[in-house]
Amino acid sequence: MSTRDPAETDTLTPTAPLEGTATTADQGHEWWRTAVIYQVYPRSFADGDGDGVGDLPGITSRLDALGELGVDAVWLSPFYTSPQRDAGYDVADYRDVDPLFGTLDDFDALRARATELGLRVIVDVVPNHTSSDHAWFREALASPAGSAARGRYLFRDGRGPDGELPPNNWQSVFGGPAWSRVTEADGRPGQWYLHLFDSSQPDLDWTNRRVRDEFVDVLRFWLDRGVDGFRVDVAHGMVKAEGLPDYTPPAESGSMGGGQGESAPPPYWGQEGVHEIYREWHTVLAEYPGDRVLVAEAWVEPLSRLADWVRPDEMHQAFNFAYLETGWSAPAVREVVDASLQTFSSVGAPSTWVMSNHDVVRHASRLALTAENPQGYGIGPKTEGLPVPELGLARARAASALMLALPGSAYLYQGEELGLPEAIDLPDDSRQDPTWFRTDGERYGRDGCRVPLPWSATEPAFGFNATGASWLPQPADWSTYARDEQRGVAGSTLELYTRALRLRAEHELGTGTLTWLEGFGPEVVAFRSQGVTVVANMGDVPVELPVGEVLLATMVVDGPALPANATVWLATTS
Ligand code: NOJ
Repeated sequence: MSTRDPAETDTLTPTAPLEGTATTADQGHEWWRTAVIYQVYPRSFADGDGDGVGDLPGITSRLDALGELGVDAVWLSPFYTSPQRDAGYDVADYRDVDPLFGTLDDFDALRARATELGLRVIVDVVPNHTSSDHAWFREALASPAGSAARGRYLFRDGRGPDGELPPNNWQSVFGGPAWSRVTEADGRPGQWYLHLFDSSQPDLDWTNRRVRDEFVDVLRFWLDRGVDGFRVDVAHGMVKAEGLPDYTPPAESGSMGGGQGESAPPPYWGQEGVHEIYREWHTVLAEYPGDRVLVAEAWVEPLSRLADWVRPDEMHQAFNFAYLETGWSAPAVREVVDASLQTFSSVGAPSTWVMSNHDVVRHASRLALTAENPQGYGIGPKTEGLPVPELGLARARAASALMLALPGSAYLYQGEELGLPEAIDLPDDSRQDPTWFRTDGERYGRDGCRVPLPWSATEPAFGFNATGASWLPQPADWSTYARDEQRGVAGSTLELYTRALRLRAEHELGTGTLTWLEGFGPEVVAFRSQGVTVVANMGDVPVELPVGEVLLATMVVDGPALPANATVWLATTS
């Protein structure tokens, strides 16, 4: 082994609250500052009743696997009453469980099992829009223009002589116009309502106090049931600019965000008015014992703007989508890590790190794409620049090992611990994402990252259930990714994650201070934290390693060199 001693450049990376901003009760208990939080997508995790759609009893029965993996918390995507036009992000009753997923008692049982396993539970709240099946929207449709019932949503008269044109030019995130016209009680075409997403997801009017009160009540409902916090859907979208002015986003911007580099945010994303909502929610959570957490799903750029969502009296965390959207490039990763640590700590919040979720191409495929692929487009058989699977997996393992060594809090998406790739060859007639329909198949959308998990190589539906039914077909070769094929197998992706999480806890990497290491060349990300040296080789040639005991390696390291597309953690004494 070489005796090479890499040069250090210091970067301070506090993950602690700003002085004077946390109460004594908060100090030392804010588990979320360093937590690894695992996203469970209920439709696709485990299916207890065998109908092909995952459910709460299924999750409960498999929760021990997450205890064994070593995560701190689970975040459950929506399981509320819903017609499922957007996989549950279209909520018809915020205080009940959809029969597809079980009952409130099933939720309580899940919560209880999580407590036994030492896992916290975060649930989703979807405040930007309801389902068109929600009682409020039905009432609005049955009520006249200008009524209080319509005032909870964004109903407007159309443009043109007969109001036949939508009120403005906004486009839905899923494609097509963001407005739909209703038929009034007299049978004539009438007003239009705004839906930033599917037409079955009418946007609420957050200037209406009744709407605000309702959601405070919904938060309390779930806090009273013992949840540890909320992931807040579309946390950048709830308030719209006065007058709803026309807006055309830059071409090819990711569908959930946009406006990057523009001086003012788009009129429907990131409006100043959202912040007072979160200040109110913060006080609601603070009334409850323990440390409850609000996590913003806010596709806001740059990071300096996103930091506003996690000021000391607002949310506690925000997903770091700038990190997720950074490609396989060492200088870019280094820059985003630096910017994240500095920006979030400037407001006393921990940085978060995330590579995958239910809205993006799984990173085991994304990191080896050779063509641009904006968020929400998805990949399918006709996509340009499809990934080489082996390269994608190698990079995903390396990227995850790097991420799990960073100070702050990390989010995992179910299946990434198995190295699952995006399902590319889904038959067209199996696709369900509204994006696919609203763009006439021009965008594949997000189904490819939502395919039910493989638990067992040999059982029906790879152990997802006992019947073999699956709401999206599982690729035949997923037996090789099955959890039981990987459990206890040296070198498997599951063992890599399990070991990384154990070492992360042992070395307290979540509270670490990151010091960059120089001298490995431009294609390498290298740093030291808590006595652990992390080297990620994003180039094409092996790089020489410093001396140190190998704690974790994403590829076999049996000499002084780290292969391309690999990450290693070394125990170092200095
Ligand atoms: C973000 C969610 O993650 C996504 O799945 C959903 O389609 C939209 N918000 C609309 O709720």
